Amino acid sequence: MKTRVLGKTGYQVSEIGLGCWQLGNDFGPVEDAEARAILQAGLDSGVRFFDTADVYGSGLSESRIGAWRRSLATPPIVATKVGRSAELYPNGYSKAAVKQSLQASAQRLGVDSIDLAQLHCVPRDVLFSGDMLAWMEDFKKEGIINHFGASVEFLDEAEFCCTNPELASLQILFNVFRQDAVDALFAQVEEQNIGVIVRLPLASGLLAGKMTVNDQFDKQDHRSYNQDGAAFHVGETFNGLPFAKGVALVDELKTRLPAGHNILDVSLRWILDHPQVSSVIAGASRASQVMRNASASDLAPLSDDVHALLKAYYYDEVKGFIRGGV
Ligand SMILES: NC(=O)c1ccc[n+]([C@@H]2O[C@H](COP(=O)([O-])OP(=O)(O)OC[C@H]3O[C@@H](n4cnc5c(N)ncnc54)[C@H](OP(=O)(O)O)[C@@H]3O)[C@@H](O)[C@H]2O)c1
Repeated sequence: MKTRVLGKTGYQVSEIGLGCWQLGNDFGPVEDAEARAILQAGLDSGVRFFDTADVYGSGLSESRIGAWRRSLATPPIVATKVGRSAELYPNGYSKAAVKQSLQASAQRLGVDSIDLAQLHCVPRDVLFSGDMLAWMEDFKKEGIINHFGASVEFLDEAEFCCTNPELASLQILFNVFRQDAVDALFAQVEEQNIGVIVRLPLASGLLAGKMTVNDQFDKQDHRSYNQDGAAFHVGETFNGLPFAKGVALVDELKTRLPAGHNILDVSLRWILDHPQVSSVIAGASRASQVMRNASASDLAPLSDDVHALLKAYYYDEVKGFIRGGV
């Protein structure tokens, strides 16, 4: 597993990280033993960057990571998020409440100071007021957090966050079916030494290439209850694509890839071929997926021809179907 520097944090993080939303049982029930096996498979495969949030399972994901992390001699970097809990979202944002949320996260994670705390897709008016980013600067001075970043929904939000001189990282939705950040953001983050953390690298699993239109998801899984944006932003689940359309687009893309190119490997490698990316926080519902995804770090870069094919496919065939804006 190769490592990269995570922007201003200076942390060396693994190119493939682990997204830990599923450890909150938000994709369906995950037993404690399975949760630990998923985390351990990451560590054993060289993963040194884990992403969670206070709201994943109302703290369950953080608690599971905290318990596991405490058992390790050299704990990996863990990033969490703040801003979507019932106490804060949508209009309870105060400095005291945000501080309390962060302190509760630190306790669950078993750390004195959080490695990286990210604003968690907070409402646009809250983000653009700038208050929350300013509070994060203060929390850093107070030692509650070591660094802060932001997970955002839209590229104009990412651009706004870059105006904060202490912002260490941005978490964005970026994959072969969501390529706009290449032109809209990457020059700026590179210039300002802001690390890019990539979420939804597989478009909620579509780009693993195994889904069919008849697939059903657990009723607790956002891929069931948020397929059309009923619970949160429509652009998030399946990358904003209507499920059947997403499956059809993947099936078509498979036929266009050159022989010997597996869509899962291509999808992860395509992201890593962008040097502005620090870590890809792929989700995984089982340990075998974690190990498979980790191996993308060792693959050779894609050819220019494959990059050109994927770019044309996105702009000509995919982008027009993404709901909710980019
Ligand atoms: N607003 C935010 O800040 C935000 C929002 C969303 C996500 N995130 C972060 O991003 C992380 C990743 O998001 P995500 O899990 O939703 O999306 P993802 O990484 O695009 O997709 C993960 C899903 O892909 C499938 N998969 C993964 N590896 C596979 C493999 N090797 N073979 C076959 N299938 C594979 C699994 O589906 P099955 O379960 O069907 O097998 C898995 O649940 C989250 O855990 C979270 O940390 C943040």
